Amino acid sequence: MTPSKKILVTGGAGYIGAHTVVELIAAGYEPVIVDNLSASDRTLLKGMERITGRKPNFHEGDCRDKSFLRDVFQTEGPIQCVMHFAAFKSVGESVQKPLLYHQNNIDSLLVLLDVMQEFKMTDFIFSSSCTVYGQPDVIPVNESAPFKRAESPYGATKQICERILEDIYPTGFRIVSLRYFNPIGAHPSAMMGELPIGVPNNLVPYITQTAAGLRKKLTVFGNDYDTPDGSCIRDFIHVVDLARVHVKALEYLQHERHSKLYDAFNVGTGKGVSVLELVNTFIRSTGVKLPFIIGPRRPGDVEKVYADPAKAMDALRWKTQYSLEDAMKHAWAWEQKLRASHSED
Ligand code: NAD
Ligand code: UFG
Repeated sequence: MTPSKKILVTGGAGYIGAHTVVELIAAGYEPVIVDNLSASDRTLLKGMERITGRKPNFHEGDCRDKSFLRDVFQTEGPIQCVMHFAAFKSVGESVQKPLLYHQNNIDSLLVLLDVMQEFKMTDFIFSSSCTVYGQPDVIPVNESAPFKRAESPYGATKQICERILEDIYPTGFRIVSLRYFNPIGAHPSAMMGELPIGVPNNLVPYITQTAAGLRKKLTVFGNDYDTPDGSCIRDFIHVVDLARVHVKALEYLQHERHSKLYDAFNVGTGKGVSVLELVNTFIRSTGVKLPFIIGPRRPGDVEKVYADPAKAMDALRWKTQYSLEDAMKHAWAWEQKLRASHSED
């Protein structure tokens, strides 16, 4: 029997999930999307249809709802692997709403794993984050670095989720955790990109919305960190490069014959870039003005972190293709396209 090409993508209407769906289709898979649209709408679903000419099955519902998930698994039949993107993701917001973050991010994982077990499904790819490292002692950070105390409730949810995955894999799961650094940019077609509901929490959508005149000015949160220009340092990775690593992780799971497996990989570029450097790259690569001021530090932020991506490059045979400039140009093209479509409404 040929194995199912179906991949269940929770959170597939969101930023990274939607870009991954496009890469899965390009690689010959059949993604099935589950999303409760709590942090998204149908815009990216339409974008992925335009890019791929395909309309993946979409089930609107919550990953914490066991009977809904059972229905999805029953309706869809055999599924090769579950990719679990559905979660809340804002570091700053998690400091304000810790209970919401713990409930959503941890409960959705537990319920999903429970239903997977019921349906005897084993293969799982988890959206983890570099926030699991807290502020690492050594950077670039590699996967064997100890988890320091998470700086935010969001980071704590990812640490707890990874611990759950480590605990349960010996009972018969095959799991890859992908520790994303900071995804930015948009699909090069400008048909999909980051689309926060309301005021953006993440840096790049705030930059593009400010450049488009929707926001008065960007506030850079802190210039008194122990970094060369005083602003925080992150490892910004193009979202399409990040999406492609999921296809590589699937291939890795297919080739690894172990019946029980847990592995974690950093997914970053290996380059640390400061917030102010990113702002200047946006201005330089788009030629657009960007008013910004320096404000106080944002609670929950890690000072500096960037990846040692050698393990993913080697074991997953993956590497990045896009530059920071590409990411800025693509993010700006997406923002302009959004504004143009809104002005037509
Ligand atoms: P996103 O908010 O764009 O997408 C998440 C999607 O999940 C949304 O469409 C939302 O409606 C859905 N969702 C949330 N809770 C749900 C639930 N209980 N049931 C069903 N659907 C639910 O976020 P993203 O940037 O695409 O992030 C995807 C994953 O990657 C998250 O797990 C996030 O923590 C992780 N991550 C993101 C980043 C980043 O900077 N964007 C970095 C590291 C890790
Ligand atoms: N920043 C600003 N001004 C803004 C927004 C952000 O200066 O208006 C700064 C932040 O203080 C931080 C940097 O830009 O120093 C990046 O902030 P983001 O909110 O874009 O990203 P985070 O690093 O806080 O978190 C993101 C995702 C998390 C993920 C993490 C991995 O939101 O889900 O990347 O590094 F886990």
